[in-house]
This record gives sequence, C-alpha cells and structure tokens, in this order.
Amino acid sequence: MQIQNDLLLRAAKGEKVERTPVWLMRQAGRILPEYRAVRESVSGFIELAQTPELASEVTIQPVDLLGVDAAIIFSDILVIPEAMGLPYEMVEKRGPWFPNTVSSESDLKKLRIADGANDLSYVIKAIEITKKELAGRVPLIGFAGAPWTIFAYMVEGSGSKTFSKARAMLYTEPKLSHQLLQMITDSTINYLKAQIAAGADLIQLFDSWAGILGPDQYEEFSLNYISQICDAINEVPKTVFAKGAFFAREAMGQLNCETIGLDWNMGIAESRKMIGEDKTLQGNLDPAALYGTPEQVAAATNRMMDQFKGGRHIANLGHGVYPDIDPEKVKVFIETVKNYK
Ligand code: CP3
Repeated sequence: MQIQNDLLLRAAKGEKVERTPVWLMRQAGRILPEYRAVRESVSGFIELAQTPELASEVTIQPVDLLGVDAAIIFSDILVIPEAMGLPYEMVEKRGPWFPNTVSSESDLKKLRIADGANDLSYVIKAIEITKKELAGRVPLIGFAGAPWTIFAYMVEGSGSKTFSKARAMLYTEPKLSHQLLQMITDSTINYLKAQIAAGADLIQLFDSWAGILGPDQYEEFSLNYISQICDAINEVPKTVFAKGAFFAREAMGQLNCETIGLDWNMGIAESRKMIGEDKTLQGNLDPAALYGTPEQVAAATNRMMDQFKGGRHIANLGHGVYPDIDPEKVKVFIETVKNYK
C-alpha cells in the first residue's frame, strides 16, 4: 500500500523532504492516559503485548493523539529471549525479571534459535492488523534489541546499573558469550525478516546498554553482531541506536544502515563529522527537556533543530520519553519540529 506521509522513509534514505519527520522512542505505552486505560483492561504488559488487537490499538494511539510521523509496533525487546526459551516477567514498578538465566554451556543447550514468524506470531499478527488500521497514513517501525543488550538481560536476569554478571561473562567465558550472541543474532534476523514480511516499513535496533562496554569490547561483542544484522536485512531502511556508544561513532558510520540514533550526550556537529554525511542522524533532545515550560520545550527543540540543519535528520529524543512527562509537552516538541523553518 502507498504510504501517504512517507517523510520518515525519505529522510532515512537521504531523499528530499519538505520538513523534518518526528517521532519519539517509547511513544507507545508510557505517557498517554488512553494507553493506561487499555493497559488496565488486561492483567499486565505481557498480556497486552500478546493480544494483537490491543497491541495494535496502543501502537496507533500516538499517531492519532500526538501527530507523530511514524508508528512503532507495541512490543518489547525481551520477546526474543522468551522465543529462544528464556521467559521473562514484568514486575510492577521494577521492570523485567527472568526466572532462569544463562551462565553455563548446559543453560545454552536449552535454548533454540527463534523462528520469528512462528515463535513470535503474536507480534507478526499485531503488525498485520496495525498496517491495515493505519491504511498508509504513516510508516510502521519494527524493532528488536541489539544482541549485546539482549545478552545483558539473559545473563543478568533483570535490569541493573552495572550489568556486572553480564560483563563478567565476557571475560570469564568469551567463547560461550560469542555462542550466545550468535544465537541471539540469528534469532533477531529471523524475527526482523518476519516483521518486514508482515509490513514493517523500517526497522530499528536498540542497543540500550552499549555505553557500559569499553571500545574494544564493544567492537568485539556488539558491533560485530549488529553488523551481521545490518548486512542480512536489505528490504527496508535500518536505524541503529546505541545508547552511550560515543566511542563507536566512527565505526557506526561504516555500518550497512541508513540511520544512526544519537543520545543527548553526543554533540551533534561532532557526531556528524565522525559518522559522515551519507547517514541520516536521529535524535537527540534530552528527554528531561520536556519537563520545562512549553516555551522552554519549544526553545530547546529549536536549538536542536538549528544544530542539525542542513544534514539528513529525523527528529526524536535522545532516549525514550520518560513516563511522567505531560503529553501536552510532547505535543509542543512535535509541533515545534513540524513548524521549524
Ligand atoms: O516505543 C514504544 O513505546 C513501543 C514499545 C516498546 C516497549 N519497550 C514497551 C514497554 C519499546 C520500543 C521497548 C524497548 C525496550 N524495552 C528497550 C529499548 C529502549 C530503551 O528504553 O532503552 C529496553 C531496554 C526494554 C526493556 C524493558 N521493558 C524495561 C527496562 C522495562 C521496564 C521499564 C519501562 O521501560 O517501562 C520494560 C517494560 C515495558 N516495555 C513497558 C512497556 C510499555 C512497561 C510495562 C508495563 O506496562 O508494566
């Protein structure tokens, strides 16, 4: 189906755009009261994510209510470990938790490479319904966690400030680490291909825990695998967002992808120089800027737009929108980008 507002796709490919497209990481499922109403009608996040009609409904809410230029499918990066045989729970106010983790070869032997279309059929179904419901209004973004970030949760078993168990394993069991990372990579490629076959127009990899590795380890245990995914997916444009990986920007400029996401710690001019002219940059307003008054939000947004001016750009925050942000401030951010000249 022809997409009516295809600004995001054109900006990703470096084609001419009338204005900069804008969407927000974590735009579905954090800030909207309309989301909370749907969420309260089910037992929790997992039931919501596994009910395709509801997942589709909350995916489209930000398009209707906020006016973003893209939808992102409502799911989580942790569906991959579950599809590989390591289920997770979402503990209220604490986040993800894995009853079992991976620490030995025998743990690894219990896992399988996920087949996206079968093992994650509920996400695929949600994408199909969403594409139908969107009827080409805006593109639909599919996503997955980058292998290192998924590895970190599978080994650690929950969120963590340091992910010291996961980082320890890179030193104590490098071979096992690579085996697990390769299984995650193969699963992720299958999953993203299934998302694309179901209608995802662009895909994004979230490497949320990139910034806790040093440059050499990042190259060995993360970029190598991101690179395999980028090389395997050529059907749609790809975005790589590696939070905190300021030290890897030059290397990311060499990835086979169209867009690199910047977090708000990364200087815009400096990032452009390191990454080069032939990639689109996505980002990167500090999510905390949205706590300001509407005037302050508009001023901060305009400053960001000034700094990106003249280069390929998709406007976004530098990380996911915080849960307690007033949706009205999000609208100011979006409208300021849309009206920027
Ligand atoms: O963009 C969107 O809103 C689409 C849906 C989406 C979710 N998670 C839904 C979700 C996306 C893109 C994600 C990505 C995700 N999940 C990342 C990468 C992005 C980032 O923030 O760095 C990570 C690291 C996770 C893992 C995860 N899932 C955590 C740490 C948590 C708990 C804290 C939180 O973010 O809310 C989750 C839970 C989660 N994922 C919820 C939602 C709507 C909340 C669950 C609930 O309703 O109880």
